[in-house]
Amino acid sequence: MALYSEKVMDHFRNPRNVGVIENADGVGEVGNAKCGDIMKMYLKIDDDVVTDVKFETFGCGSAIASSSMATELIKGKPVSEAMQLTNKAVAEALDGLPDYKMHCSVLAEEAIQSALDDYYNKHPEKKSIANDVRN
Ligand code: FES
Repeated sequence: MALYSEKVMDHFRNPRNVGVIENADGVGEVGNAKCGDIMKMYLKIDDDVVTDVKFETFGCGSAIASSSMATELIKGKPVSEAMQLTNKAVAEALDGLPDYKMHCSVLAEEAIQSALDDYYNKHPEKKSIANDVRN
């Protein structure tokens, strides 16, 4: 069996939503100290919906594929849904990742969480709604 699924290879070779959003509503950057990979997410949010999302990933193929898939999973979704995105969901949508590459999908979850935290820091009035969803 191939080490990587076709979906992983597809998102690695043709990553979706690569780039930068100028004046993004939320920006998050995370890294993994062990492998040194870095992921940055930009969110555009209108009426509590993620209307656009872009990423820049300096990292391995699984990190690029995970970022790409994560953006697809939250684009057009309510913020409340984006907040629930787990690394497991990203890995499953990619038809799996090798065990030792699961941390790459964790970066994608963390980058989105970090961008959402940034959004809520800029818009504290939205936070009570978010807390209701989280709890
Ligand atoms: Fe670290 Fe992939 S090897 S994110």
